[in-house]
Amino acid sequence: MLREGIRATSRRRFLQYCAASPLLASVGFAARAREAPSKLPDPMMWAPPGSTDPIKTPKEAINVFDFEAVARQNVPPAHFGYMASGIDDEVTLRANREDFKKFQLMPHRLHDVSKVDLSVEVFGTRYDSPIFICPTGGNQFFHPDGELAVARAARAGNHLQILSTSSNFSVDDVTKARGAPIWFQLYASSSFEVAKALIKRADGAGCPVLAVTVDRIAGRNQETLFRLIKSDTRECSGCHDRSSFANRALRRHNYDGIDLSGIKGGGESSNLDWDTVKRMRDVTRMKIILKGIVTPGDAELAAQNGLDGILVSNHGGRGEENGRSTIDALPEIIAVVKGRIPVVVDSGFRRGTDVVKALAMGAQAVGIGRPYLWGLGAFGQAGVERVLELVRTETKAAMQQCGAKSVQDLNAGYVRRAT
Ligand code: GLV
Repeated sequence: MLREGIRATSRRRFLQYCAASPLLASVGFAARAREAPSKLPDPMMWAPPGSTDPIKTPKEAINVFDFEAVARQNVPPAHFGYMASGIDDEVTLRANREDFKKFQLMPHRLHDVSKVDLSVEVFGTRYDSPIFICPTGGNQFFHPDGELAVARAARAGNHLQILSTSSNFSVDDVTKARGAPIWFQLYASSSFEVAKALIKRADGAGCPVLAVTVDRIAGRNQETLFRLIKSDTRECSGCHDRSSFANRALRRHNYDGIDLSGIKGGGESSNLDWDTVKRMRDVTRMKIILKGIVTPGDAELAAQNGLDGILVSNHGGRGEENGRSTIDALPEIIAVVKGRIPVVVDSGFRRGTDVVKALAMGAQAVGIGRPYLWGLGAFGQAGVERVLELVRTETKAAMQQCGAKSVQDLNAGYVRRAT
């Protein structure tokens, strides 16, 4: 079946190519092409993505997308759907990828880039690359070792890891597996007491930074998830009983021992405001950054309210359907912040060129989410390691092609908005 599909796709692409070619049109090839080309022939016509068999080992992967098909095979449909889903029409999800095309890199020639330094310093800690692990919930949905496997992979490449409140393993266990302090992402919920208890737990585990999520505060319509749930015939209520927040939190060990009775509804934090964030300052020694800022106005307020940093994020297009990609929002945010506080970014990053565009715009680091979950679902820790290696390798190549010897070298002169 797959082979027939590949043959049909190759033939269609070949005919499209013939129809578009001025050389061949004159000898009558175009007349034989049934589908009129709507665009220039795809340069990947001979081996389009997805036309080869799924990879069998992490080493075989030539880019991060190669892991997705394997994860789709290995991971139950509902769990895969949970990860893949955007909101409503998934406009934001798609914008996160498509908008990278709005920006072009500006190569600087004739610089000796035989040695390239990918390292970055964020809040006083040096990491070997600017690529960090975004917080994603319930990593055991993808592999039994869950966040521990991710932490070990992050350790292998000395990447910053931000752990989700909704992780299966606790912040203490993941910190041990990472072998160095990690950042903690907070879902504040409606109860300040619960938020405070989670903050204390992260403090106790030695986290230096708290990333307070401000864009996942209310309900959402995850259509891809809901459709794929229907095709999942397993009985899984024992693992994640959705009947109440307390039941859902049972296997999320950051909540262990915390009284959840004050949480209303499904754990939303629609009552969160600037004042709540100020109160958090009084209960922790951690630096506090806001995760989910996408407008210059909010970025200015974050700086004015004494926040320590901003994570420009739309939750991978899964928090709300605002239609705004983070790569599009980033330059305006960098412009208002004017270097007062660090800005990092995530949502939709897959390629080294994506990473370099954001760094050149002024982000200090760039997070990836779904790609490492594909790696985890496909091959566990080894898959995550290879995903990170691929993004690092592409980032290094993109920096060399741009003529940048270090991340510090990158600036607005290396990227421009396509006209
Ligand atoms: C968790 O972060 C989610 O978007 O489900």
